[in-house]
Amino acid sequence: MKKKILITRKLLRSNEDRASKLWDVKLNLNDEIHSSKKLIELSQGCDGILSSLTEKIDENILNSLPKSIKIISNFAVGFGNIDVEAAKKRNIIVTNTPDVLTDATAEIAMLLILGACRRTNEGINWVKKENWKWSADFLIGKQLTGSRLGILGMGRIGRAVAKIAKSFGMEIHYRNRKKLSPDVENGAKYHDSIKSLFSVSDVLSICCPATKETKDIINKETLEYFPTGAIITNVARGDMIDDEAMVQALINRKIYAVGLDVYKGEPKIYREYLKQPTAFILPHLGSATKKTRTAMADLAISNIEEFFNTGKCKNTVN
Ligand code: DGY
Repeated sequence: MKKKILITRKLLRSNEDRASKLWDVKLNLNDEIHSSKKLIELSQGCDGILSSLTEKIDENILNSLPKSIKIISNFAVGFGNIDVEAAKKRNIIVTNTPDVLTDATAEIAMLLILGACRRTNEGINWVKKENWKWSADFLIGKQLTGSRLGILGMGRIGRAVAKIAKSFGMEIHYRNRKKLSPDVENGAKYHDSIKSLFSVSDVLSICCPATKETKDIINKETLEYFPTGAIITNVARGDMIDDEAMVQALINRKIYAVGLDVYKGEPKIYREYLKQPTAFILPHLGSATKKTRTAMADLAISNIEEFFNTGKCKNTVN
């Protein structure tokens, strides 16, 4: 008998077609964001869920899911939206989609760095006012060449950012749970504390996972570690930044600019960012290319297939 799979958000057509051939699927053709109650209701009779980062699947929800659910395949590399330990207790495996979105996300990380350093938001605002004029000191920004890029989290995405940033002439520093081997480090300098990393970061790119340890890692105290006039960018998850402290640092010019693609409680954005000309902000576009979104959904589907065929999955995270 065909497995029944709940696909919580609308996928690209080719992905939905593939899933529909494999399983008896419940699709979300109107692409609504389901409430927890609705999610639990829809999962009745299903064997697995293909979830996305817009669903917060916490312990309460996990405990209310039917016993038939054996896998939650998250359509993202990040899985901070799911309580993976609680899922494990319920014997539900959780999988993610690593690798396939590395390049697309690294591109957006670079866009954030460029956008924040080169005063792109202010530039766009001037263009829209239709009354700008070129002058020698008009919107002078910070040049990437020769500046130090700190990378917080030197996983796949961090390393891809390092590679591109090096070609822009940036000097690479990083902090990671483990020091990488010299061939993987590829000339980047390891720091054994965030204080040490932040103090040499003219620009910071946050690329680490959202965990208890990294929550609000950028806060009033740690912002003081940065050189005055540093730039902070985030392509990972909004949980890492204490927004109030960050906006304050922008206002008092400790921090020159921010580049953000992700937010705490998104799609809501801490309103004060919208008022800051030095905030270059995007609506979570990290993996948003056709090539990457197709590959991500394909992998999320393959993860379910692999699990039901073999009883395990190489992309299990719990
Ligand atoms: C991820 O996969 O975690 C990305 O943020 C999705 O866009």
